[in-house]
Parts: sequence; C-alpha cells; structure tokens
Amino acid sequence: MTNNLFIPLSIPDLRGKEAAYLAQCVEDNWVSSAGPSVTAFEGKIAALTGRAHAVATINGTASIHLALLAAGVGHGDRVVVPDWTFAASANAVYHAGAEPFFIDISHDGWTLDASLIGDALAIENNRIKAIIAVHTLGQSADMDALAANAQGLPLIEDAAGAIGASYHDHHVGKDGTFATFSFNGNKTVTAGGGGMVVCDDSQAADRLRHLSQQARTGAEYIHDEIGFNYRMTNLNAAVGLAQLERLNEMVAAKRAIAARYDQVIAGRQDLACIPRAPWTQGSCWLYSILTASPDDSAALIVTMSQQNIEARGFWRSISEQAPFKSAPKLLNGVSQSLTGRVVSLPCSSQLTEGEQFRVIDVLQKWRGSAINSIT
Ligand SMILES: Cc1ncc(COP(=O)(O)O)c(C=O)c1O
Repeated sequence: MTNNLFIPLSIPDLRGKEAAYLAQCVEDNWVSSAGPSVTAFEGKIAALTGRAHAVATINGTASIHLALLAAGVGHGDRVVVPDWTFAASANAVYHAGAEPFFIDISHDGWTLDASLIGDALAIENNRIKAIIAVHTLGQSADMDALAANAQGLPLIEDAAGAIGASYHDHHVGKDGTFATFSFNGNKTVTAGGGGMVVCDDSQAADRLRHLSQQARTGAEYIHDEIGFNYRMTNLNAAVGLAQLERLNEMVAAKRAIAARYDQVIAGRQDLACIPRAPWTQGSCWLYSILTASPDDSAALIVTMSQQNIEARGFWRSISEQAPFKSAPKLLNGVSQSLTGRVVSLPCSSQLTEGEQFRVIDVLQKWRGSAINSIT
C-alpha cells in the first residue's frame, strides 16, 4: 500500500518544551501581556542579534509599525519598501500615516536593490524618511550596500522570516537602525503569534515599549500620546522560548531539506533555485523555486496537490496590487518578472526524508518550459 498522507507546506515544529512552559505560565498565573517569559524572550533575541534592546510585540506587522514611529516616520512621509515582499511591510507604512515608495529588488539576491535608492531619494526630494529592507525567504539583504546608499536615513530590517539567517559573520538584525521579527505560525521559530523589534538606542527602545502599551506614563491612567496595545503575552513568549532552544536544530534541518531540493533542481532547464547571494547564509525559511511562467507554477502546484502535497505560489509585485497601485515606484522589472513564477515546496523542519522523497519524485517526473533569464 502506498503512503499518500497529506504533506503540508510548512507547519510549526512543537517537539520541544512548549507544553511544559505553557503549563508553567498557567501554574504561575502569568498569562497576559507581561511576565517572566516575555522578559526572557526579549533577552534571548537581543543576545541572538547582538543588540542592546529587544521589545516583544503582538506580531511582525506591529513591530514594523512601531519601528517606523520610533524612526520618526509620520503623516505625509514616504518610506522605501521593496516591491517584492509580504503586504505587511507596506501596510505598516500606511499604519504610520506614511506612503510606501516601492523600489525593486536586485536579480542577484531578490532583496532591495541598493543601486536604485539614490534615484528614489532624488525624485522624492526629502520626503523619504526611512528605508525598509526585507530579508527575502530567510536570506539577508545586502545591508552594507544599503547603508552606503541610504544617505543617513534610518534603515529598518524586516527580518520577519529570517531568524537563523546570517549576514556576513553575524546573525541578521544587527545592522539596521531597527530590525523586526515575526513569530507567526509559519515561521521557523513561532510563538503562536508575536513579533520583536531590536535596536541599540535606549531612548528608541523606551519609546517602542511606551507606544506598545498605550503610551501610559505610570500606574495611573495618564497617557502622553496616542499609543497601541501591541504587547506580546506571556503565553506566546513561553512558546517562543521553547522554540528558541531548538533554533539551531530546526535551521539545520531546513538547510538539509534545501540542499536535497537544490541537488534535484541543479541542471534543470525548467526550474531554478533562488539566487544565493554571497553575503548571506540563509535560514532556508520557506524553500522556493522559480518556474518559467505563471502557467508552469500553477501546473506544478496542481500536480503536487494531486499527490496530496501542498505547494503554494509565493509573493507578487506589491505595487501592482489594488491597495498599493497609486504609490510611487522605481522598478527594474525583477519583481514583475518573478510574479506568479515562484513556488514554495514542503519544508517544515520535521519533514521526514521519506516525505521529501515523495515531493522530489513528483518534481522529477514533472516537466515545465525552459526558463529565460529574469532580467
Ligand atoms: C516580510 C514580512 N514582513 C512582515 C510580516 C508580518 O508578520 P506577522 O504576520 O507576524 O504580522 C511577514 C509575515 O509573514 C513577512 O513575511
């Protein structure tokens, strides 16, 4: 009998002490938006990223929103956002009262193209107040190149899916003015839901914390500005702590899965691996491949689904989508060319070799059209 059990794309790997730490929260009566697990989780992420401060939040989107506010972004401002990202990076800009200026990604790393920033800043004539760089698919943007072109503007690393990835010799999150993480259920490290902002400036960290708890000035009901209820709960932090204990193990498993897929794709004319830029060792968050066309991607996804395997299309050009169409942009064609052509394959850290061989078997039997260069 053949085993045809469903293989999901990417699911939480909860084989550590998650249940024990949650039970401890209940026993200690620390279940809400303060508690020892929140403080411990913040400390661990600060240490991992080599930052002086980490502020836990309710999710990755809220983290970007807070980082933008702490960077001084407000009404009427513009913020550089890569054209190839999850909508949250752009939505957070609108939440801060500003508007995105979409800049394309480079073909060599699929991250924000530093060479376009100078032109964007010249076009906008002082309206751009910050730059968001997204660490695409768990691979770092080239932070040095971005800093060299940023003309002193605050750089925010949107590292939502990049925990475990490195930039040169260090973990991502160390180079921007701020860096933000997501601990959503589909991330390598989940907290059920949650986010984190890291930075070195203590005044900025105080402001992040203040804004995240309704800008309350003390125990009394006195507030000094418009704030948000963005604090992470102790329950979520407890799950995050258990997950962090297994970070290296989970990233190693994902890298091994990625290496096996890479071998199968090497030499194919109809499929390509994502570009691996020399400045980053990716965390292999969501293993994804490039097909020749949106039709090929759709066909591959259907073929996988017929074998009870979940594969899914990845990001599309953000500036082409209805809510963002009117925002200014400077594109080089890369994100438009990728739209509809990137497919993510099963890559949960607990995916067994047997399960991966089932996916590989489908890949090996499937044939698409020949890929042309993306630039
Ligand atoms: C690049 C990017 N930024 C931000 C987010 C938002 O994170 P959250 O879902 O925790 O709000 C995500 C989530 O997947 C993301 O991929």
